[in-house]
Amino acid sequence: PNKVLLDLNINFGTCVGNSTDGVADVQGQFRGFSTRADATGSASCHATKPDMLNVHLVPHTHDDVGWLKTVDQYYYGDRNDIQHAGVQYILDSVVDQLIKNPDRRFIYVETAFFYRWWKQQSSATQQTVKQLVDEGRLEFVNGGWCMSDEATTHYSAVIDQMTIGLRFLNETFGPCGRPRVAWHIDPFGHAREHASMFAQMGYDGLFFGRLDYQDRAHRMREKEQELLWRASDSLTPPMADLFTGILPNGYNPPEGFCWDQFCDDPPIRDDPDLEDYNVDDVVKRFLAIAKNQATVYKTNHIIMTMGSDFQYENANLWYKNLDKLIHYVNALQAKGSKVNVLYSTPSCYLQELHRANLTWALKTDDFFPYADDAHDFWTGYFTSRPALKRYERISNGNLQVICNQLEVLGGPVSRKGPFGEGDSQTMKKAMAVAQHHDAVSGTEKQHVANDYARKLAEGWQHCQVVVSNSLAGLSSSSAERIYCDNLNVSVCPLTDLLLFIINNTDPMHLVHVNCTCMCFLNIIHMTKYRKLNICVYVLQFLQVTFDPDTGLLSSLSNLETKQTIKLTQNFYWYNASDGKNMDSSQPSGAYIFRPNSSTPFGISRTAKTETVQTSVVQEVRQWFAPWVSQVVRLYTDSRTLELEWTVGPVPIDDHLGKEVITRLDTSIKTSEIFYTDSNGREVLQRRKDFRPTWQLKQSEPIAGNYYPINSRAFIKDDEDQLTVVTDRSQGGASIQNGSLEIMLHRRLLYDDFRGVGEPLNEISSIFPEGLVVRGRLLLSLDRPPTAADTHRPLAQQVVLQPLFKWFCPVSQLRTHHVACFSGLQAALPPAVHLLTLTQWDKDKVLLRLEHQFQSWESKRNSKPVTVNLQKLFSTLDVLGASELNLSANQWKDEMSRFDWTPQTDHSDWEVTLRPMEIRTFLLRVRLR
Ligand SMILES: *[C@@H]1O[C@H](CO)[C@@H](O)[C@H](O)[C@H]1NC(C)=O
Ligand SMILES: *[C@@H]1O[C@H](CO)[C@@H](O)[C@H](O)[C@H]1NC(C)=O
Ligand SMILES: *[C@@H]1O[C@H](CO)[C@@H](O)[C@H](O)[C@H]1NC(C)=O
Ligand SMILES: *[C@@H]1O[C@H](CO)[C@@H](O)[C@H](O)[C@H]1NC(C)=O
Ligand SMILES: *[C@@H]1O[C@H](CO)[C@@H](O)[C@H](O)[C@H]1NC(C)=O
Ligand SMILES: *[C@@H]1O[C@H](CO)[C@@H](O)[C@H](O)[C@H]1NC(C)=O
Ligand SMILES: [Zn+2]
Repeated sequence: PNKVLLDLNINFGTCVGNSTDGVADVQGQFRGFSTRADATGSASCHATKPDMLNVHLVPHTHDDVGWLKTVDQYYYGDRNDIQHAGVQYILDSVVDQLIKNPDRRFIYVETAFFYRWWKQQSSATQQTVKQLVDEGRLEFVNGGWCMSDEATTHYSAVIDQMTIGLRFLNETFGPCGRPRVAWHIDPFGHAREHASMFAQMGYDGLFFGRLDYQDRAHRMREKEQELLWRASDSLTPPMADLFTGILPNGYNPPEGFCWDQFCDDPPIRDDPDLEDYNVDDVVKRFLAIAKNQATVYKTNHIIMTMGSDFQYENANLWYKNLDKLIHYVNALQAKGSKVNVLYSTPSCYLQELHRANLTWALKTDDFFPYADDAHDFWTGYFTSRPALKRYERISNGNLQVICNQLEVLGGPVSRKGPFGEGDSQTMKKAMAVAQHHDAVSGTEKQHVANDYARKLAEGWQHCQVVVSNSLAGLSSSSAERIYCDNLNVSVCPLTDLLLFIINNTDPMHLVHVNCTCMCFLNIIHMTKYRKLNICVYVLQFLQVTFDPDTGLLSSLSNLETKQTIKLTQNFYWYNASDGKNMDSSQPSGAYIFRPNSSTPFGISRTAKTETVQTSVVQEVRQWFAPWVSQVVRLYTDSRTLELEWTVGPVPIDDHLGKEVITRLDTSIKTSEIFYTDSNGREVLQRRKDFRPTWQLKQSEPIAGNYYPINSRAFIKDDEDQLTVVTDRSQGGASIQNGSLEIMLHRRLLYDDFRGVGEPLNEISSIFPEGLVVRGRLLLSLDRPPTAADTHRPLAQQVVLQPLFKWFCPVSQLRTHHVACFSGLQAALPPAVHLLTLTQWDKDKVLLRLEHQFQSWESKRNSKPVTVNLQKLFSTLDVLGASELNLSANQWKDEMSRFDWTPQTDHSDWEVTLRPMEIRTFLLRVRLR
């Protein structure tokens, strides 16, 4: 039963002669062109030969949106001393070469680059390019602003960056510009939630290049490099099913067939009068490679990626040789050869796989962690550059919750008002670039990391104007109504607070302000007493004990559920391998985590402690070393325990690179299992030294058990579940029974040979001795069947936390945070989260509502919920609504029109969300 028929309703083929139907929403407004032609033929795909082995050559370039150079340097081809790469020349050259021969094909991926290039072209060139796209000679694949990282990105930011790129393609090229294939050839491991999102964005398939070397070997033997990924355990199939193809050679050409200017492989020398004629040799080598490759795939079609990083700057070299290769290989067919080579694209290749009408292996787990050899686990980047990871996450919160929503609620004045001209676009683009697989992943050079942070800071500045204008435009009474709907306590002047916080754009510092607003809270009860030589802190919901001898946490109780676990927490560091050892020469670096030993060093057995009590919070401050401290915070009205850690500057005077973790050792019986989220959404089970789809030979007992934690991880047994919600992406593992460790900071002295060419040793003018990082872990202890009721809203709150915390007293925001903030008429049902509310164009806003529970995880909340779109907002009238796919570049159902009517109690305004479902709407609105 693990084989299913690939059942995709693919509608491939030419865009030539598309018919377009206008569709109107319920109020009769023309919604625009929305349908794609029912292309039965496939004029843009070259014909294949059913009785032969068909080799699909896919010319492509992989253009990182920042890595060794900044995104701008890559675009212009600046700083070629660092790396020779210039995207503008690539696009110039490829377009010229495509025009020369209509057989040629090219795919382009990163809209961040394409968009820049497009803006600079003459209208004649734009017209030519449109034609190339219409004829399928230039095909967009993926089409997001960048090719996102899959381990360290939050789903909300991924959806946004895809939406920006795909919107540009739709508006520029119409239906022919809509990519059918997701192309994630370089990310270092693959997240299930990414596959789920791609499926919901309407992609027909996903191709990638990197997976664990043991997994690949197994899949080659079983011919399972092409499979069907069932990417959600909650969404009804085939909603989150995605055909997935693993490319044969990463994303590079086969050995000996690289004809870029960067390569040294021999060109095809086909003049028989000249001495070094090599056609026979080239053809022979090619046929051998093709036949060999065909043995590990299922159909009589195989794909070859003809390109690599920043290739095709001089596209003539590639195309001239590919033309010849195709000519000479196919010429042999006259002599009985059964190999047919053609220019192709991923969607033309996918179409053939679909036509083959086979069954494909079904996969339900993910592709983490990724190892390319026995001691080479790419699990370090889950934590690399922790300050950048946090800054990216805070920026996302501010964009979503402050900038986007205030822009909608404030109306046009928010973009142009008393404080000048502002926009959310700058921040949106900065965030989109930051999702790239060498950005938030932390695998770029230091100067490039600085550039990402600078772009985000600039985005904040543009948002600040939007926010100021928006607030100024709202009368103080309506401001009160919007932001503090359920508040009857007066808080600090809203605008001052907001501006103060928005002002704080220092990328290396965490936003850190004292909130005087909180002082209005009454203390319910909080006592500290000494019992049996243990310090006990009792709050309304939690009880925490510390061992007075060591100063470490010793237990945690939930007073409501009457459960208690033993809980010791401390800090440790792994000694990073320098690569000089017998097993392998691999050091720990920006990508790779390779500890020298499986036993981490303790930083201190004991902590010096101090207790501080304010009106709303009880704090236990712990010092472990001059470079490691923590504040354990207990808020009176909170169900969670906050651990605010500060780590750095990590000492390196002993010349040892260090990877610093905190470890929670508990009495929970975990049986070598723990759980991590995927991109902040669905949760996956992880088992020590185990992979669900192949027999693992474990060669790195620590690094090989690390997984990305995006927003939460938990351990549980039948009685207790301890959930840790993080404030940024981090790596984590459960190595011992009952324990959960999270890597917080890394400082390394060697490059790890994956291209970045720098040791991960972050220093800045603010931190000349080495980066100091501060962050929070939120712990909650629950009964497993109700744990999600706590951690789901909590994690959303942390993601969207940065500012709204300051608007309402804690007690209010915990129960009414959405209402307090977003101008909603009433709090949404607990299962529903307002994912997106952003201005789309003059009179339309984009709305995404999501069900935030998995189908199995909550008795109370894992049920379908219905929301009325017209009753959502207190300051907006909703006049019309149309549903879109997840990335908002296609009308849902290719346009069965919704029968919306304006009657407020009409049930058609009601939308139902099932567990884990996200629904996307374009709303026509009017400010009340
Ligand atoms: C696909 O294969 C199934 C049997 O596996 C067969 O019933 C069906 O007709 C085939 N479809 C096409 C279009 O060939
Ligand atoms: C605020 O309102 C709630 C309920 O409406 C009430 O219980 C509470 O006492 C009020 N608080 C203040 C400070 O007025
Ligand atoms: C924000 O920063 C600007 C310039 O740095 C400063 O003039 C202004 O007073 C700041 N605003 C607040 C509210 O701190
Ligand atoms: C926050 O409060 C602390 C202690 O009360 C004080 O030292 C610090 O200056 C305050 N910081 C800000 C930004 O107000
Ligand atoms: C730490 O690792 C380094 C390099 O891998 C090694 O030379 C050294 O002996 C290790 N130190 C300890 C204390 O284990
Ligand atoms: C795609 O772009 C066209 C042309 O601008 C527009 O009319 C249409 O509404 C867009 N489709 C979607 C789903 O936004
Ligand atoms: Zn890349």
